[in-house]
This record gives sequence, C-alpha cells and structure tokens, in this order.
Amino acid sequence: MSIAETVEAPVVPDETAQPPKLSPDELRRAQARSLDTPRMRYSLLARMLFRTVDLVYGRKRSLVKFAMLEFIARVPYQAWERMGYLALARRRRDAGLARRIIDRIEDTRVQQDNEQWHLLIMEDLVRRQGLRQSFLRHRLAPWIISFVNYHISWMVFLVKPTLSYRLNAEFEDHAEHEYMLFVAEHPELEHQPDPGTYAERYGSYGSIADLLRQIGHDERTHKVDSLANVQTPRFHEARRPGRTA
Ligand SMILES: [Fe+2]
Ligand SMILES: [Fe+2]
Repeated sequence: MSIAETVEAPVVPDETAQPPKLSPDELRRAQARSLDTPRMRYSLLARMLFRTVDLVYGRKRSLVKFAMLEFIARVPYQAWERMGYLALARRRRDAGLARRIIDRIEDTRVQQDNEQWHLLIMEDLVRRQGLRQSFLRHRLAPWIISFVNYHISWMVFLVKPTLSYRLNAEFEDHAEHEYMLFVAEHPELEHQPDPGTYAERYGSYGSIADLLRQIGHDERTHKVDSLANVQTPRFHEARRPGRTA
C-alpha cells in the first residue's frame, strides 16, 4: 500500500455550529414566527433575573437594555466551558468521551463568541445614537449580575445540568422575543442603515431592523441548542445539535 493511499482526508471543523445568516425575506419570516410562538414558561430563577434587569434598566425595551442583556448572555456559556474543561481533566483517558466533551466545549465557545458579537454590535449602536450610560448602571450593575449568574450557572450545572440548560433556554427565549418585539415597535429602524461596523465577521444587513432580526434569530438558535442539551445533559450523552433556520 502506498503512502498516498494511507493518508486520510483532513478533518474539517463542523461549521454548522454557527447560527445561520438569513436573507431579508427569511429574517422577516423568522420575526413573524418568533412573534407567533408563545414564550416558554419561565422558571422562578429566570423571572428573578428578568425582574432584576427590569428594576435596574426599566421595563421598556431599549438598545441600552439589550447591551446589558448581551453582557449577561455570555456568562452561562463561559460557565459550561469551564465545567467542560474540568470534566476533560478527569476523563481524558477515555478518547470517545473526551471527543464528545471537546465537541460540547467548542459549541459553547461558538455561542459565546456569537453573544460577544451581539454585545459589540449593541454597544456600537448605543454609542452611535449618543445614548447615555452611567458607570453604576451600565458598568458595575451588569458586572455584578453577570458575576452572580456565572456562579449560579456552574453550580446548577454541577447539581443538575438539565436545569442549567433549561434556564439558559428561557433566557434565550426571552431575548428572542424582546428583539423581535423591539423591531416591531420601531418601524423607523427599517429605514436606518446598518452601520456594518463588524460586517466582515457578522455580515451586513439592509437596515438596523434586519440586523436586530438576525440577532433575534441567533437567540432562537441558542434556545434550540440549549433545549437539545436538556435532552442529553451529560457529557457522555453529548451530541452536536443540528441547526434549524
Ligand atoms: Fe445575544
Ligand atoms: Fe443568545
């Protein structure tokens, strides 16, 4: 057998882990579907988190509030990534399990990065619109809420991973509906061009309305992934969730 025959094709990373980018028509359909989908039944922990955010930033949907929500949104993924590495340290002699743990760690990282783009985009929109942000409400408070949420995420994951994924699905469901409702409440966003500050990494859109619809659809994707993980919460059961548009 020649060397050429023994060389296997290189393994290509699974790009399906990225939430899909939608066309303008698909974005409108995604918004309609989200608005037609009833919200999940939120747990006490989720309602406490939403109530805290409402108390600090007001009940009204706003770009500033979305920036704060994005700041918090990365946290469960960071907590799961940490738990994944701890599991990997203990189970690294089992190659099959180690691969499944790494798959799940990579998924959490992709979602974390996606949330990071959301945060950067929202902060850019807030700056461009000259909206005021104070140190106490927009620096210190999100840090404290994120700190608490991070520790809740990993502790809940340690005790019952299902609950941790379910809590995140509720957070994502809330974000999905809030973005889509905000776009519906602000028709003027249809005529405001997407500044495209991060277009090379996040794509460019016909308007701020479409940019926010894309973010709303990403949140739906995150929710679907977390709900899939509710079904297979333990690392030894881990499967890469499929993506739906
Ligand atoms: Fe987000
Ligand atoms: Fe999200």
